[in-house]
Amino acid sequence: MFKLDSINNMETKDRYRYMLTLLKGQLSSEKDDLANISNATGIIMACVDRLNWAGFYLLRDDELVLGPFQGLPACNRIEIGKGVCGTAVKTREVQLVSDVYLFPGHIACDSASNSELVIPIIKDGEVYGVLDLDSPEKGRFTHMEQEYFIKFVEILNEYINWNNI
Ligand code: SME
Repeated sequence: MFKLDSINNMETKDRYRYMLTLLKGQLSSEKDDLANISNATGIIMACVDRLNWAGFYLLRDDELVLGPFQGLPACNRIEIGKGVCGTAVKTREVQLVSDVYLFPGHIACDSASNSELVIPIIKDGEVYGVLDLDSPEKGRFTHMEQEYFIKFVEILNEYINWNNI
């Protein structure tokens, strides 16, 4: 059973290191890629505070399609180049958006979201989708957190065959 007690008293960086440890534990103990990325979203929600949505959009036939997530029901499909997620795919760059309402073309799936961090999933030069985190708090995401989530996706890439999902 997953217990949160140990996380609650941790300093932020310890919490993020612990999140990566939990992720490696999940990925090294289960072979099914869909189960693994589903639990990856659970690990994020358990370890990171002040989020209202965390999940994946996966590239399917030149558009992003909703994958495993935690939060309210969200947009099913996002065009490449549209919104924060589609921009992350088009530019192949992390999008750290302090105020989504100032981001041209932002797609408001959940009106509670005010800031967003999107990490493109790129393995062997190919884009497979994005990891998307939303917060109700403006300016929620720091560059330190960005680095931990880049590492999070690097660890996923070590284990996940994105073509299997
Ligand atoms: N806001 C995102 C859409 C996805 S939801 O946040 C879950 C965007 O602009 O791409």
